[in-house]
Amino acid sequence: MNKKITIFDTTLRDGEQTPGVSLTNDQKLKIARQLDKLGIDVLEAGFPISSEGDKQSVKAIANEGLRLDVCGLARVLTKDLDTCLDTGVDMIHTFVSTSDIQRIHTIKKSKEEVLTMAVDAVQYIKDHGVKCMFSAMDATRTDLDYLTQIYKAVEGAGCDIINVPDTVGIMSPSRMYHLVGAVSKEIRIPIDVHCHNDFGIAVANSLMAAEAGASQIQVTVNGIGERAGNANLAEVVMCLQSIYGAKTNINTEYLLETSKMVEKYTGIHMPPNTPIVGENAFAHESGIHTHGVLTKADTFEPGIMTPEMVGHKRRIVLGKHAGKHAVQKSLEDAGIQTTDEQLDEIVRRIKAIADKGKRICDADLHAVAADVLGRN
Ligand code: KIV
Ligand code: ZN
Repeated sequence: MNKKITIFDTTLRDGEQTPGVSLTNDQKLKIARQLDKLGIDVLEAGFPISSEGDKQSVKAIANEGLRLDVCGLARVLTKDLDTCLDTGVDMIHTFVSTSDIQRIHTIKKSKEEVLTMAVDAVQYIKDHGVKCMFSAMDATRTDLDYLTQIYKAVEGAGCDIINVPDTVGIMSPSRMYHLVGAVSKEIRIPIDVHCHNDFGIAVANSLMAAEAGASQIQVTVNGIGERAGNANLAEVVMCLQSIYGAKTNINTEYLLETSKMVEKYTGIHMPPNTPIVGENAFAHESGIHTHGVLTKADTFEPGIMTPEMVGHKRRIVLGKHAGKHAVQKSLEDAGIQTTDEQLDEIVRRIKAIADKGKRICDADLHAVAADVLGRN
């Protein structure tokens, strides 16, 4: 794997294609500023030809003076490219369908026509002095010889980076590894990947692409996007850094804060067991686990990823699996001292309440403790 991986965020473009999600221009600007603070390398701010609102928000983000590169999406059509150029972006991401199924049934163009359109679009972008990324849409269902032919042709036209999109999320990690490996033997410019999550393995597919030589990964905050979404930003980054030992420019301590902002603006809420940014990502309930964690955190946490690294907090949860240590710690945190017998009685009552299917909150614990300590 490349030791340094750059992160291309498409929360404001593919992410906004999440069914039911529509962001205001003000929300998009706030998210763009947050992604800049997070350390994203390239931000796909939108698809300017898709609506006047999108064009205006891409323009506003491009004029914001952010550290990151702002990118706009465009088909390989002059009207799309011109609209994108008008916004003042640093980079244009241009795309065209290359798989037979999309080429024949959607754009109705021959392989030769598609190749010419791709090369012309890349040349047009480069003639305007803007960075260019080319995507062979549905690359993972495209005949490999044709795919490499088109990538070589756009490389020859001056393209800066090519993208291998798994548009309908049908790849397996090993197939992604072989595909990116095969493409990287044919071209010299950097390779980026864009994996959809239809089978829940977009992150695994992206990581295998990086193992095979891709140097840029496309992600969205909270994994939002078309259908089942895209590769999840927090998961990709933490796997790269903590498991693979690769470097990114991401300031990981802002991952939770970023996730919360996107949850709030999109209305798409993460289940509590979501890795890294979920409410339970660093929560412990079982007696064995809490005792271990209260003694030394790494006993029942990865260690290579701590809550502090991602801006999260460790949480001890009281429930039917709670042990004496967890209850004692919660009581001490609330300034409540007990004898051993009182603690045993509090633990017994807490478990009895939880056994009835109730969630234990601090108020329950304090009420039980007050009763046992005779303070009522
Ligand atoms: O999924 C996809 O293929 C896309 C393209 C625009 C790259 O989103
Ligand atoms: Zn996509």
